[in-house]
Amino acid sequence: MTENYQTDLDRYKKLLEISRDLAGTIELDALLNRITLAAKEITDSEAASILLYDPYEKKMFFQNATNMDPLLQGIQVPMDSIAGWILQHRRPVILDDASQDERHFGSVSKKVNVHTRSLLGVPLISKGEVIGVLESINKRDGKYSPGDEELMLVLGAQAAVAIENSRLFYQSDHIYEFVHELRTPLAAITTATYLLMRSEIGAAQGQKIISNINTETKRLSELATSFLDLARLQSGRTRYQKSSFEIAPLLEECKFSLQPKALEAKVEILIKAKKNLPPIIADRDKIKQVIINLVSNAIKYNRENGKVTIEVTLDKDLWKFQVTDNGLGIPKAAIPNLFKKFYRVGGTEQKISGTGLGLSICKEIVQGHGGAVEIESRVNVGTKFRFTIPLPNNEPKDE
Ligand SMILES: Nc1ncnc2c1ncn2[C@@H]1O[C@H](COP(=O)(O)OP(=O)(O)OP(=O)(O)O)[C@@H](O)[C@H]1O
Ligand SMILES: [Mg+2]
Repeated sequence: MTENYQTDLDRYKKLLEISRDLAGTIELDALLNRITLAAKEITDSEAASILLYDPYEKKMFFQNATNMDPLLQGIQVPMDSIAGWILQHRRPVILDDASQDERHFGSVSKKVNVHTRSLLGVPLISKGEVIGVLESINKRDGKYSPGDEELMLVLGAQAAVAIENSRLFYQSDHIYEFVHELRTPLAAITTATYLLMRSEIGAAQGQKIISNINTETKRLSELATSFLDLARLQSGRTRYQKSSFEIAPLLEECKFSLQPKALEAKVEILIKAKKNLPPIIADRDKIKQVIINLVSNAIKYNRENGKVTIEVTLDKDLWKFQVTDNGLGIPKAAIPNLFKKFYRVGGTEQKISGTGLGLSICKEIVQGHGGAVEIESRVNVGTKFRFTIPLPNNEPKDE
């Protein structure tokens, strides 16, 4: 009895320590790492995981685990799984043998090489909304007890609040910036329509104004798309759907989709990649987005008869990508600002259209894969953008 009391007290102390820690963590990935680690420790389990619910898509996704396999992050978990049941019923579940339960979603355990025996899952509820599920699996010694359930419920409640806080923190910043950026194109459209309404405007002038409206609405739409992308990336709502794929066809695809732009700008795109590279593990669409962004910049900020080279190598445990152009170059003083939202180098922004979000998106995606971005540039000589993607096991962990 005394011994039990002592361990319970220890576990509550630990929980108190964790709650302080959670309240002070704002970055979502770091937060999720802490929550799963805490769940594993306080319930003395082999592993723990978090699944988050996306209310817009009405789907649930595997988000983080103490033994996270990169191929698992972002996989969708069906609603008729155990976690789906917890989410919909908003009730905790204790199972002594989860693999025997008809709701068991085998795909996750197969991929993590963890055979799920016992399971304790609780809903994550913040302000009355269920935002996900926290699960501990395989109690080391015996079965999960009502005491474990109680601890997980307390941890779950604190985790849910911390997750919501982290999301709100990033959102508030975004809304302000977005509204600010909307003003310029909106003002241009308002002025144009005002001019159009005046009777003395001739047909030719009218056409020109309409074409301006068209450009500005396109810009608004691009801004909205890019902004949403970036906001999702920064708030941690983006799920990297990692798979194993060949890099050469991806480079060809990027070249193919940018070829019309390149032809128009009279710029040539070259690909340099060794023949026998092994497949890479990453989110294919997102890596494509990064390459497209960089190559599209290299075309846009180039000159007639310019060249753009895309190179990929695998150097020990690091994939190295490089996009080189011999275009306008970037002044040294501007380089530290390139990854700031909406930043565009003075002088080019009038002539060449863009939102100034492309590079911020690239950086988020690369960092989301545990890699880094680097720039080297000389005005009137050209620019080299490099980024790395580490092999999955070598991703730096948070702390
Ligand atoms: N290869 C490059 N050569 C010269 N300048 C570049 C190059 N890439 C980017 N820049 C400069 O960096 C700025 C920011 O690039 P970024 O891709 O973030 O935005 P953008 O191209 O202006 O807009 P978007 O990519 O959202 O359409 C650009 O406006 C441009 O001034
Ligand atoms: Mg760009």
